[in-house]
Amino acid sequence: MSVAIRPGNGKVTVPEILSRKSSGFSTKQKISCLTAYDYPTARLLDGAGVDVLLVGDSVGMAVLGYDSTLPVTVDDILHHTRAVRRGTRRALLVADMPYGSFHVSVEETLRNAMRLVKEGGAEAVKVEGGERRIELIAKLVEAEIPVMGHIGLTPQSFNALGGFSVQGKTAEAARQVERDARAVEAAGAFAVVLESMPRELAARITEKLRIPTIGIGAGPDCDGQILVFHDLVGLTQGHKPKFVRHYADLGAEVSRAVAAYCEDVRSGGFPSDAESYHSPAELRGVAAAPQRT
Ligand code: KIV
Repeated sequence: MSVAIRPGNGKVTVPEILSRKSSGFSTKQKISCLTAYDYPTARLLDGAGVDVLLVGDSVGMAVLGYDSTLPVTVDDILHHTRAVRRGTRRALLVADMPYGSFHVSVEETLRNAMRLVKEGGAEAVKVEGGERRIELIAKLVEAEIPVMGHIGLTPQSFNALGGFSVQGKTAEAARQVERDARAVEAAGAFAVVLESMPRELAARITEKLRIPTIGIGAGPDCDGQILVFHDLVGLTQGHKPKFVRHYADLGAEVSRAVAAYCEDVRSGGFPSDAESYHSPAELRGVAAAPQRT
């Protein structure tokens, strides 16, 4: 892999993320996380100062056109992680363990996670699930692979849950989410994503854990926030969950630009003479127009 990662110089690392929580967290230090799946986006997000870039299995829905994250493979995540690695200097790069990559055996889990680190350049992996995953998380950590947990709504449980719904809304369900959070921390995860749960529950978990919580649909009291980049900039279609804030409407902007381009091509307005190369004057028998090189 050709990209040199240099800790220091503001590089975000796992210990640095942990130290933000242990040093008591000022609001300014809250952890900003976004998904990224390709090189140009990674460059932009990294340059804009995002702390953590996640090559999420949401790539399946945001980019590959699947209805859920379930079809995404280790090779898909690897392909996108390599591209994001090439565009990332400062942010911590986390690769998602997709459905099927950690469900068969500990050995296979380790092999898949190591590929994401060795071949993809990921600095950590994310694993969905709480108490049920503690053995796996501990084994990954033992193998020097930092793990970000992910509890609450876990989209890979789509079929088992019967859809995407807010978790932890009954007293017993909330207790289970709290048990999951404590288990993930005890197993050695350095951070945990809390997805789609009441803000009061997320606040309680955030208060109790020593590791940072990263919220998505879990309210403002988490130690950090993550969104799918395509949601943030208005590139996704269909249902918009209430926790998504559009910071730009790139979907409309791209549609407008492409419609204008098509119109110009059809009318002959593109390209113009200034946007064309020209033969040398002696070949044309006319005075040379200024040339673009
Ligand atoms: O796959 C993903 O993008 C995620 C985040 C939304 C947490 O899991």
